[in-house]
Amino acid sequence: MKVDVLLGLQWGDEGKGKVVDVLTPKYDVVARFQGGPNAGHTLEFEGQKYVLRSIPSGIFQGDKVNIIGNGVVLDPALFKAEAEVLEASGHPLKERLHISKKAHLILPTHRILDAAYEAAKGDAKVGTTGKGIGPTYTDKVSRNGVRVGDILHNFEQKYGAAKARHEQILKSLNYEYDLTELEKAWMEGIEYLKQFHFVDSEHEVNNYLKDGKSVLCEGAQGTMLDIDFGSYPFVTSSNTVCAGACTGLGVAPNRIGEVFGIFKAYCTRVGAGPFPTELFDETGDKMCTLGHEFGSVTGRKRRCGWIDLVALKYSVMINGVTKLIMMKSDVLDTFDTIKACVAYKVDGEEIDYFPYDITEGVEPVYAELPGWKTDMTKMQSEDEFPEEFNAYLTFLEEQLGVEIKIVSVGPDRAQTIERYTEE
Ligand code: GDP
Ligand code: IMO
Ligand code: MG
Repeated sequence: MKVDVLLGLQWGDEGKGKVVDVLTPKYDVVARFQGGPNAGHTLEFEGQKYVLRSIPSGIFQGDKVNIIGNGVVLDPALFKAEAEVLEASGHPLKERLHISKKAHLILPTHRILDAAYEAAKGDAKVGTTGKGIGPTYTDKVSRNGVRVGDILHNFEQKYGAAKARHEQILKSLNYEYDLTELEKAWMEGIEYLKQFHFVDSEHEVNNYLKDGKSVLCEGAQGTMLDIDFGSYPFVTSSNTVCAGACTGLGVAPNRIGEVFGIFKAYCTRVGAGPFPTELFDETGDKMCTLGHEFGSVTGRKRRCGWIDLVALKYSVMINGVTKLIMMKSDVLDTFDTIKACVAYKVDGEEIDYFPYDITEGVEPVYAELPGWKTDMTKMQSEDEFPEEFNAYLTFLEEQLGVEIKIVSVGPDRAQTIERYTEE
């Protein structure tokens, strides 16, 4: 068997959580491969709404095994808070949620370092989620990290050494902080975590594949936030692209099957950094209002703009996307005209490839298509799609060279339409 990978193609918040939940019944196992509680994956069904940060989005569909892979960074305090909400709402986790021993722990001092580094950057700050993601991955790469498996071996010593090192850095930055509450909640999180199965998830995942079980890998963030291919330095600190599933779960590249690439019918970004198609007018405000574009983790207003096909084509290429999924189509239901950026104008010249730097001097070149002006939120099948909407889908497929297999017309699990069901 192969693993299928589902990941975001834009700047995150494309709707990954919703679609993982929708697809989970087709799989035996769901596994997160990177990121941490910087993610906020929203699921809505049966009148309930949940936001998941570290727990995979396959947790609500029956008794499927969900795995937090080695590529994930885990904050025990936030994990405890998230898990307790699920358990209290009748979704027992302990038997079905497995955590890689190799996943790195976000320490309380990582969160403080995140804030201190952002403060030191001043106007050049990244606008991180403040969850300690960058400092934790930094420690991982510089071989100073503390891992989930360390909780069971010499933990006090390892934690103490990392904390002392962080406190020295904070002192050199003259950064004032109070660790007491954070550390207390974190230690309670560590105790809570001990009830879960700590696993060698690379063996577990590969054994599932050997036994003919199907695995869906869930990405966090999006390709434009990837540490290598995103709009550096305004990115997160992990590989959000498909290759991240290989390193974040121990899956060999030749084990990758379908790559589901998710995008919104328009585009959003939260935090700082370049965004060529960003709108600063009432059209952008309308997208924000209709799309409820406020961060699910930080509550920050998301910046909105038209779809960027130059960036999307790049994402399709980097990830080897085999199937596209378009989210939030309904948000554009009332627009007279839909615009799509098909090229960038840089120094007076039109280019259709994603350049090294998009920080400034990039002017989007737009194609315009007629809006469909139809409420799509109650539609159940592609037979109901208005002509103009089909024209938008065809245009995108031609531009991107990959078929759009799923269209989402609302936040609820039920508002999901699969296209071309016959393979
Ligand atoms: P993720 O991080 O990729 O899982 O996405 P988020 O959960 O951060 O953001 C997506 C938001 O859009 C959530 O509030 C979802 O409930 C919502 N959503 C998902 N799909 C649709 C859709 O098709 N239409 C609308 N209107 N909202 C959607
Ligand atoms: P999901 O999985 C949107 C952004 C932050 C910031 C940058 C770095 O819900 O799509 P970090 O805290 O990772 O160091 O912040 O990345 N960012 C996200 N934006 N969705 C996310 O996750 C994000 N995770 C991080 O806003 O610009
Ligand atoms: Mg999100």
